[in-house]
Amino acid sequence: MTSQLETRDRLTPGAASSALAEWHYSPSLEATDHVKIQPRYNLFIGGKFVEPHSKRWFETINPATEETLSEMAEADAEDVDRAVKEARRAYEKTWRKIAPSERAKYIYRIARLIQEKSRGLAVAETMNGGKPIKESRDVDIPLAAAHFFYYAGWADKLEYAFPNRTVSPVGVAGQIIPWNFPLLMAAWKLAPALAAGNTVVLKPAETTSITSLMLAEIIQEADLPPGVVNIITGAGATGAALVNHAGVDKIAFTGSTEVGKRIQRSLAGTHKKLTLELGGKAPNIVFEDAPIDQAVEGIINGIYFNQGHVCCAGSRLFLQESILEPVVRKLRERIGTLRVGNPLDKNTDVGAINSRAQLEKIQELVESGTEEGAEIFQSSCSVPDRGFWFRPTFFTGVAASSRIAQEEIFGPVLSVLTFRTPEEAIEKANNTPYGLSAGVWTEKGSRILKMAQKLRAGVIWANTYNKFDPASPFGGYKESGFGREGGLHGLSPYVVLT
Ligand code: NAI
Ligand code: MG
Repeated sequence: MTSQLETRDRLTPGAASSALAEWHYSPSLEATDHVKIQPRYNLFIGGKFVEPHSKRWFETINPATEETLSEMAEADAEDVDRAVKEARRAYEKTWRKIAPSERAKYIYRIARLIQEKSRGLAVAETMNGGKPIKESRDVDIPLAAAHFFYYAGWADKLEYAFPNRTVSPVGVAGQIIPWNFPLLMAAWKLAPALAAGNTVVLKPAETTSITSLMLAEIIQEADLPPGVVNIITGAGATGAALVNHAGVDKIAFTGSTEVGKRIQRSLAGTHKKLTLELGGKAPNIVFEDAPIDQAVEGIINGIYFNQGHVCCAGSRLFLQESILEPVVRKLRERIGTLRVGNPLDKNTDVGAINSRAQLEKIQELVESGTEEGAEIFQSSCSVPDRGFWFRPTFFTGVAASSRIAQEEIFGPVLSVLTFRTPEEAIEKANNTPYGLSAGVWTEKGSRILKMAQKLRAGVIWANTYNKFDPASPFGGYKESGFGREGGLHGLSPYVVLT
């Protein structure tokens, strides 16, 4: 929209903008007056919104302004027990008994209602989580609807998904999700579980619960039988009570490796099925024959997208030595043009960090990078006074053993490393405890296939990055977890085959 553009009369001094004319965009704020965020949300149990037994609520804020948006109920062990019992009752009485084609209709209805309410959901997601509106509007909410549409299609075709087997649901699923893609993660968890005939107790992350409760309102409007989906809010203790409840048959968790390991230990020796989707430290590998400008856009999208709050973020960039200098130069120029600021502005590229705790974690790891001798480059853009912000950053001269090359930063911070041969790239890329995703950039098709076979990662993108589709399975190797979500594979954790 050229009418919104004005060139600045002079270039901002500093390396970031040395070669590119800097464009100044007039603010283009998304309206918020059409969004109904309740001042207080209760627990969604048995088809109704009920006060928590704990009689406690906690505040949830907008990380871009630090203003309180709403308060959420804190579910205690008794509330968890109520939710699990309602889920069990719904499972026995209705959901496992109704015709699969009827189940499909309910799931389609949820998908359509998400589409209808997408504008409000996108604004709420941005206000509660800090992500730019163009991402919640164009990525999170449409993909959430797409997941429900996709799995609705499987509900009455399970005998084709698992030919020559008898397919039964697992029972009651406890699902715990993180704060980086709140509604989308809820959709990833709920859609396959419901399609396969399970009932659910879902716990969103404590900093980003609003869109899950809006989804509860949608589920009520879609007229799902009471108790098929229960949504309870709270922090780690609520999650732990759900994990340890004897009435749950399956746990699905997405979040930190630390909590994932704890859950795995506490479920050892029980009948409960478990899937874990944990962290990542993805390699994005660029060969000298790659289309460089396209690769630079892919690198930028891979790490600065969603403030780097992405488990499959391309956080380790491996450049073939001969292209180190031009790619680093282009990266410096490009990050200088990223617009950091109000997530509700349609022109914002990088929004707010999700919480103070996450900002502190990023700051601590970035300090360790400088201390360990890497060279830092950071955008010189201004950021708002209030709220949680971190400027797009990258490091060069990174030692393979340093913390910034090994640990998940989960922020807009890239570590640049180099390689000479494809073998060296594979060895270095595989040298972390994680294995969730990877990117390969090269003109040569045979090299893409060879790399894909040798990289220990669940998802591998070639000449692109961060592309998602409900039909495509997603999941990790090693400490990135086990089990797959998405696609036909995503049904497996929610069925018993005989
Ligand atoms: P976390 O693992 O503590 O939180 C994820 C979810 O688990 C939340 O709903 C939380 O309430 C719940 N939870 C926390 N403790 C629990 C327990 N003992 N039992 C059951 N549920 C529990 O993640 P956190 O602390 O928010 O983030 C820490 C780091 O984890 C991030 O810096 C990032 O590196 C990584 N992370 C990875 C994610 C991914 O998508 N793989 C998502 C979020 C965080
Ligand atoms: Mg935690």
